Amino acid sequence: MYNFEFQNPVKIIFGKGEISKVGENIPVGSKILLTYGGGSIFKNGVYDQVITSIKGFEVVEFGGIEPNPHYETLMKAVEIVKAQNITFLLSVGGGSVLDGTKFIAAAALFKNGDPWQILSRRAPVEDALPIGAVLTLPATGSEMNGNSVVTRVETTEKFSFASLKVMPVFSILDPEVIFSLPHKQIANGIVDAFVHVIEQYLTFPVNSPIQDRFAESILITLIEEGPKVLANRRDYEAAANFMWSATMALNGIIGVGVPQDWSTHVIGHELTAYHGIDHARTLAIVLPSVMNIKRELKKDKLLQLGERVWGIREGSSDERIDHTIEKTIDFFESVGIPTKLPNYGVSAETIDTICNRFKRRGYKLGEKADMGPDVIRRVLESRL
Ligand code: NZQ
Ligand code: ZN
Repeated sequence: MYNFEFQNPVKIIFGKGEISKVGENIPVGSKILLTYGGGSIFKNGVYDQVITSIKGFEVVEFGGIEPNPHYETLMKAVEIVKAQNITFLLSVGGGSVLDGTKFIAAAALFKNGDPWQILSRRAPVEDALPIGAVLTLPATGSEMNGNSVVTRVETTEKFSFASLKVMPVFSILDPEVIFSLPHKQIANGIVDAFVHVIEQYLTFPVNSPIQDRFAESILITLIEEGPKVLANRRDYEAAANFMWSATMALNGIIGVGVPQDWSTHVIGHELTAYHGIDHARTLAIVLPSVMNIKRELKKDKLLQLGERVWGIREGSSDERIDHTIEKTIDFFESVGIPTKLPNYGVSAETIDTICNRFKRRGYKLGEKADMGPDVIRRVLESRL
């Protein structure tokens, strides 16, 4: 196992009815900016629960944060924060609203020029406003990490940044929010969480049995509980287990002291940037190809994944790896997520555009930083 430092200060408040505790977790006297998305919180009662709980606080509302939050929209919120002397940000929504709120928190206090540099150059975030979150969509793990992913429409770029400073002070996870989620968003959440685990697990062994077994338990739970949630949205127990799986998948615990990949995510972000494909769907397209093309480097972990998660014990190493990739594709397809580029209207032309951009950027992806534009081209072309 590698050396590591681990710190996760997020207070998790989990369970039915817990949204009523928002107010008591915000410092008295705060001036709140309540951020939200396209309006789902008004239809499912979450907004009413939040407003009841924060009665007595001065509140300014900022709605309209898009899925794959736009830098352009978020900068409008930054102006409001400054003009109205906001002291606390309350995110009520899915990963996009929370990621957007993290950027607002950092950009509002950024002193070194254009806040875009936080994303484009990973300029250090020295300070940020405190954030509280009411999560309405289990998927990203944003509720218990310091990551944020933002899209700039003007330049079709989707970039991420990470900082301890933007980790929420608290996150409220009430599994009943799942009751109002459309099938598509639940499927997206299952696949996103699944691939978060894979990015931190499917690399090469460094003798880390705790991280491995935690990771495998999250994958198995997603495989078992995800379909139950899809079959019956009101199955509270399944919803609770799914929600906690998504948080555990990306709160840092399974990623300590181990190599991490993240190539599937970085390539996937390009597909979202150019074609607006939902984040999780881009992962379902890219991952099978990464598993196949990197089968030598990832061999030991691919065999371990096949055996411990999918119960694959028969055949040669190559046959078992092929079977493991097939089972993964079948799982994504079984929740209703197609895994090939033509399913989304993406052609070879986009692959050229993406590879040229990676060429200009000059960096390589993967746990060994050995995936340059040529490998990325092979990854994408094999999904045509
Ligand atoms: O905008 P509203 O009206 O709220 O509707 C949203 C949105 O249309 C809707 N929704 C959310 N909760 C709902 C609901 N509809 C009904 N009932 C509810 N309870 O769902 C739609 C999608 O929401 P969004 O927040 O975009 O989804 P998700 O949570 O999957 O977030 C995706 C974003 O997170 C980033 C992705 O790149 C993408 O931009 N990621 C963030 C990560 C992180 N911070 O660690 C890691 C991930 O890998 C990912 O990259
Ligand atoms: Zn993701």
